[in-house]
Amino acid sequence: MKKVSVIGAGHVGAKTTYYIAEKGIANVVMVDIVEGMPQAKGLDFTHAAPLRNYGVTTVGTNDYSEIADSDVVVITAGIPRKPGMDRMDLLKINTDIVKTASRNVANYAPNATIIVVSNPLDIMCMVALDASGFALKRVFGMAGILDSTRFRYFVAEKLDVAVTDVQAMVLGGHGDTMVPMPRFTTVSGIPITELMSPEDIELLTVRTRNGGAEIVKHLKTGSAYYAPAASAAEMVEAVLTNEKRIAPACAYLRGEYGYEAIYLGVPVLIGANGAEKIIELDLDEGEKALLDNSAAAVKKGLADLRSFYTMA
Ligand code: NAI
Ligand code: 2OP
Repeated sequence: MKKVSVIGAGHVGAKTTYYIAEKGIANVVMVDIVEGMPQAKGLDFTHAAPLRNYGVTTVGTNDYSEIADSDVVVITAGIPRKPGMDRMDLLKINTDIVKTASRNVANYAPNATIIVVSNPLDIMCMVALDASGFALKRVFGMAGILDSTRFRYFVAEKLDVAVTDVQAMVLGGHGDTMVPMPRFTTVSGIPITELMSPEDIELLTVRTRNGGAEIVKHLKTGSAYYAPAASAAEMVEAVLTNEKRIAPACAYLRGEYGYEAIYLGVPVLIGANGAEKIIELDLDEGEKALLDNSAAAVKKGLADLRSFYTMA
């Protein structure tokens, strides 16, 4: 049986663990610094196993050594957004947390693939890459599947069609500048540009960009976790089963799309080796300008990171 470790057993981490267990694809270890909490959640999940029909184990711990030999490690540790907070407000606190987690992954699970979830996502991927010392393909981030599942839902709701028939693509950084791509968003192969007015498409792209903030506004004490966890579990499955899925994910760019040495949301072929290949779309002028704007926001975040963090 494969082994997945989830660092951070909070809202996203616990739900990710549960979704992985329900898929039955790996034994899962959850690590958190809060004493007793991950142990309790791990046990609780085992009690649901006979009812939810899974045979994998779920264990919670405060001891990083229990992640030994994991095939995949999902990093969800960190503080989430509160109302009025930008994802960048999380930068300093979460850098320390993701650095600690990544060093522990390198120490105890040197052959793992790391999927980063902690925000600000595009910057935390860089911290995880730096602190783990892993190969580029084996450190990538979850955001695009979440942002595009939100877009998929909004399109399906507006057109009154099955959500499963809608495919969507959202590129760029996981922030206010993300770039929903109507030209690459389809209902059973039909681009939504054929099915909706430009005004309706604009409304849905704005709602997608604000999808996370809309939930923060309602919740007041934290951010979304069901759809984020479902998205992370989907990426874990793609790696463990070597599915060769193509989905937007936060990957390290070396010249693709004209950007150098940054993490950014792009279409990625996901397989056993992690972010195996970056797919380069032929963007029109308007799309490229929006992606440039998003890449500039990520570069600004990297500059902020470098103001207090020295890369190895
Ligand atoms: P949460 O507060 O419920 O859980 C975070 C957990 O991390 C806490 O239980 C905390 O004790 C733990 N933690 C802190 N330091 C740790 C360490 N050194 N080692 C192990 N565990 C540690 O927060 P939630 O809602 O689960 O969000 C987690 C992160 O994921 C946040 O940064 C949030 O912004 C981000 N996020 C990212 C998304 C994305 O699309 N990439 C979507 C949703 C959330
Ligand atoms: C989200 O998009 C907060 O990044 C998190 O819901």
